[in-house]
Amino acid sequence: MITLEIDYFSYLEVEKIGIGAFAPLDGFMSEEDFYSVANNMKLSNGNIFPLPVVLPIPENKTNDIKKAKEVMLLYKNNEVAIIYPSSIYSPDFNKVLPLLFGTKDRLHPGFKMLVSLGKYFLGGKIKFIKRVVGNLSKYDLSPAEVKELIKKKNLNTVAGFQTRNVPHKAHEYLHRIALEKVDGLFIQPLIGRKQLGDFTPEAIISSYLYLIDNYLPKNKVIFGALTTSMRYAGPREAILHALIRKNYGCSHFIVGRDHAGVSGYYGDYDAQDLCVEVEDKLLIKIMKMRGPFYCNKCDGVVTDNVCEHYLEKPDPTFQISGTKIRSMLLGNEIISTKYIRKEIVNLLKGKHIFINKGDL
Ligand code: ADX
Repeated sequence: MITLEIDYFSYLEVEKIGIGAFAPLDGFMSEEDFYSVANNMKLSNGNIFPLPVVLPIPENKTNDIKKAKEVMLLYKNNEVAIIYPSSIYSPDFNKVLPLLFGTKDRLHPGFKMLVSLGKYFLGGKIKFIKRVVGNLSKYDLSPAEVKELIKKKNLNTVAGFQTRNVPHKAHEYLHRIALEKVDGLFIQPLIGRKQLGDFTPEAIISSYLYLIDNYLPKNKVIFGALTTSMRYAGPREAILHALIRKNYGCSHFIVGRDHAGVSGYYGDYDAQDLCVEVEDKLLIKIMKMRGPFYCNKCDGVVTDNVCEHYLEKPDPTFQISGTKIRSMLLGNEIISTKYIRKEIVNLLKGKHIFINKGDL
């Protein structure tokens, strides 16, 4: 059988397909699937799926793979899966850019990442063989493991929470609102491929473990990491995030302000609108959450459902912006506890908390 060496990020996709995190996807997308997903947000078999999951292959391998019935995928010399090739293709990236990312801007970070994967993709069903253990694997629970924990904790309803950041006070507000409405909360930060300047997996995991240990009801909260790439595709990515959490056993999924958005590409509630449009096909309930902000008059974190002080002049409210927190952490500034817990800032101080060139 011919072999194909894959890199870490392709391995993560193989693993997600293999453990059922991307169900109903059972392999890498064929050309037909790729365009069907871009045009209609559906796989060619009609199942909803919002974004490409593709396996790049080097050009000099395409002829050999074309002739093969099976290809063994190797990651760091481990046989991780067999793929049964059904399609080798070179997508028209320009055609899919506005469809997938809602923009014509070729500098969109998710588009740049897609293009950087390579020119040729291989589609086909896979037979997953085994997971390769890394230093963060113990946090990377599988759908089966999370479903087991949900059962063990006796949680009838569970809200999935996606994040790519260390927890700030707006996130904490969302956690609490969710726990007022459902039995449990599955906090699952995404720690796969991201962009320069995003938080490192270690920063996110250590701060969440601290938060859960000290401030959240342990019998109601499950923590696991999601090792897949960020696509920065806003609304479409919110759908992918919801599908994934359904596969992990969640009954609900939290979509807040500018979910999976990046540098102003999407409207604050575009992701909620698109999720609600297709909610009946997702088999998971979407919890739409307004953007929490801090109000000095109310002396706490609120939303525009419960506070109107933002209409006053001078405005006593301010956004708890993740970008602002990031830049204050970078500048080693003192950060008000109105934004983020002091203990979390202290825990991050002096550590490698931002992704740099060496991490990519
Ligand atoms: S991301 O996956 O959406 O990119 P992020 O960590 O920024 O991760 O946000 C996690 C979740 O909290 C998302 O559902 C997002 O919409 C929501 N969220 C983050 N910050 C805020 C905020 N200030 N107000 C409202 N929702 C927020």
